[in-house]
Amino acid sequence: MSARIDGKAEALRVRERVAEGVAAFKEKTGRTPGLAVVLVGEDPASQVYVGSKGKATVAAGMESFTHRLPDDTSQAELLALIDQLNGDPAVDGILVQLPLPGHLDEDEVIGEIDPSKDVDGFHVINAGRLSVGQDAMVPCTPYGCIHLLKQQHGDLSGLHAVVIGRSNIVGKPMAQLLLSENATVTIAHSRTKNLPELAKSADILVAAVGRAEMVKGDWVKPGATVIDVGINRLPPAEEGAKGKLVGDVAYEEAAEKAAAITPVPGGVGPMTIAMLLRNTLVAAHRREG
Ligand code: GUN
Repeated sequence: MSARIDGKAEALRVRERVAEGVAAFKEKTGRTPGLAVVLVGEDPASQVYVGSKGKATVAAGMESFTHRLPDDTSQAELLALIDQLNGDPAVDGILVQLPLPGHLDEDEVIGEIDPSKDVDGFHVINAGRLSVGQDAMVPCTPYGCIHLLKQQHGDLSGLHAVVIGRSNIVGKPMAQLLLSENATVTIAHSRTKNLPELAKSADILVAAVGRAEMVKGDWVKPGATVIDVGINRLPPAEEGAKGKLVGDVAYEEAAEKAAAITPVPGGVGPMTIAMLLRNTLVAAHRREG
């Protein structure tokens, strides 16, 4: 039976350190770091995420500016808001909650954010910097995963990491971060052949596919570390009830094999917000020069 990696407890520790850093920043500069979060439309999951981000920002001692825009917001209106936030000295970080409604061009919106305020690390400048090993804003979810992995292993050099998923938000930056820690990295995806065998060769297995419990126990090498990025809601057992939240990994089976594994909920999820706060403080420091 494996060790459960407690992302919730580690996220609290990171958030405490950020709060201390924020207090020191205020003392030194006389100003408060600020994070602006933009939500377009009424997506219920996004509303919950944005609410949690705002609360966590305030709890860390920072200013939170939440902009809730209607579903029919035009591209020009959204770009104008981003321009305004880019120029606002009280705003150190800007996060546009994704996904955006279908009529909006996500790439153009992310490209409009000043890269130095791009606390999500989604701008091509930050993605490029990460890939060539320069100082970058690192996307929060993979940043949280690498933090947990380094805590677990210390040194990742020479370990074989298999990342299942190739998204710009998680899979690709996760692979870059593992590579920068000298792991040997394989990126797998929906067209990968012999995925179970490949997964079973991993010392570190990261699942970021968005498919409930896809990774089975017999995909896990005995003694591996498993990081589950998925958050999927199963259909409810009865009408009116809420379905259970599960990850991309069949937890009970995988936990039989793994040395350590993140649960869902309480694993990677809480780390994402913690790293967002850390990125915002880093952005504030960089702006002070
Ligand atoms: N939607 C799901 N995850 C994220 C994230 O990390 N950042 C943003 N902006 N939107 C998301």
